[in-house]
Parts: sequence; C-alpha cells; structure tokens
Amino acid sequence: MLFFYCMENQKRYRAIAIDGVSSSGKSTMAKRLAETLGYTYIDTGAMYRAVTWYFLEHQVNIEDENEVSKALDKIFITFRMVDGKNVCFINGQNAEPYIRIMEVSDFVSLVAAISLVRKKMVSLQQEIGKSADVVMDGRDIGTVVFPEADVKIFVYSPARLRAERRWLEMKETNPDITVDEIENNLNMRDHIDSNREDSPLKRAEDAFFVDNTNLNVEEQYETALQIIKGKLS
Ligand code: DC
Repeated sequence: MLFFYCMENQKRYRAIAIDGVSSSGKSTMAKRLAETLGYTYIDTGAMYRAVTWYFLEHQVNIEDENEVSKALDKIFITFRMVDGKNVCFINGQNAEPYIRIMEVSDFVSLVAAISLVRKKMVSLQQEIGKSADVVMDGRDIGTVVFPEADVKIFVYSPARLRAERRWLEMKETNPDITVDEIENNLNMRDHIDSNREDSPLKRAEDAFFVDNTNLNVEEQYETALQIIKGKLS
C-alpha cells in the first residue's frame, strides 16, 4: 500500500520550456501548444511584469535590497483561469490590465535582473511544475527553472521584424507608438536580459532553435508542435 502511495506521489510531470528574445511570439505559441497538449500554460514574463507594476505603484527603490525584500514579502502571485485563459494574479487582483503598458515594459528588465526577485519567481515556477504538466515561456526556463525539461525551444527573430509585428498589434490601442520606439525597448530589454549576472537569457545547449523570420504564426506553432511530438514520442 505504502509502495503505491509513494509511486503515486512520485508522478513526474512534464515541462516544455520555451525561451527566447522579447516579443518573438513565444507566448502566443506557448499558449496554443499548451491547449493542444492539455498542459497548463504559464507566462513567466507576466510574473516579472506584475512585480514591476507593484514596485512602480508602491515606488519601491530597486537599489535598496531591504526595500525590495520587504515589498516581495507583500507580493503573492497566483494563476487562475479567466475565460478559459490562465491569467496572472497579484495579491488577488488580475494583473493583466496593468502589466502590458510601456512604463512596465521600460522597467521590467531592471526588476527581473534582481536576484531576490528571480529567486522568488523561480521557486514559484518550480512549485507549479511539481503538480502539473506545463508549457512555460520566459528567458531562463530551459537553463534555470527546468534544466531537465522534456523539450526546450529557443525562439529568435531580428529586433526590427519583432518591432514591426508588435506595432501592428499595438497600433489600435496605442496609435502614437512608433516602430522605432518599440524596437528600442526590445533592444534595451534583450541587452539587459542577456547581460545580467543572474540567469541571463541564453539558449540552453539542448534547446531546439526556431528562427521565425520567415514563419508566420501558424507555421511557427506547427514547427514547435512537430519538435515536441518528436521529442515526446
Ligand atoms: O516575456 P515578457 O516580455 O513579458 O517578459 C518581460 C520581462 O521579464 C523581460 O524583459 C525579461 C523578464 N523575464 C525574465 O527575466 N525571465 C523570465 N523567465 C521571463 C521574463
């Protein structure tokens, strides 16, 4: 009886790690892959964005470790299903409406470079992976969060192209935004994310590299799905 109980508790859940540069279509792809596979989708960028939004709202001085630590103690991040989507909540509040604005995008890489912040987010991400099959997208999923992930994919395309694609999505809600402005933000974030000391953005050696320069959304999804099916079979 005890044997079966242990076996039951030792169930190893699967992890699909999707990493890559900013705004490379990781989230759209990861979300759809999760739906197809019946896995839980976790947008780890949303977690860092939610923390950033809280820090901005509460004017937390990110140079002051003590202040950062105290603020982190007051932050509880969870994911809940809203209209069929797994959404990031901060302290019981849906974070989505607040975390995609430019102020957050401009500041998030600095917050995500803080080790105290990363420690808390990574441990939460690993906890989630202990009780569900996950598709997780971010920057360090295949290298730090799940170094033993079942499948690792690294997504890339040039910054100008990513900025143009993002502009098309944003122009309705933010008509004043320019491609240059978006490109500058993406370059700035990629630079900080790739050069920080703690878990920098980099391709895991065993990650499949997907350059989506010449792929549309559908083709990118299909490419990733075939990689995953091949690896899991
Ligand atoms: O995926 P995104 O653009 O929403 O992520 C926002 C920022 O969070 C990004 O600039 C880098 C950081 N991030 C990170 O450092 N590690 C992750 N696993 C996910 C995001």
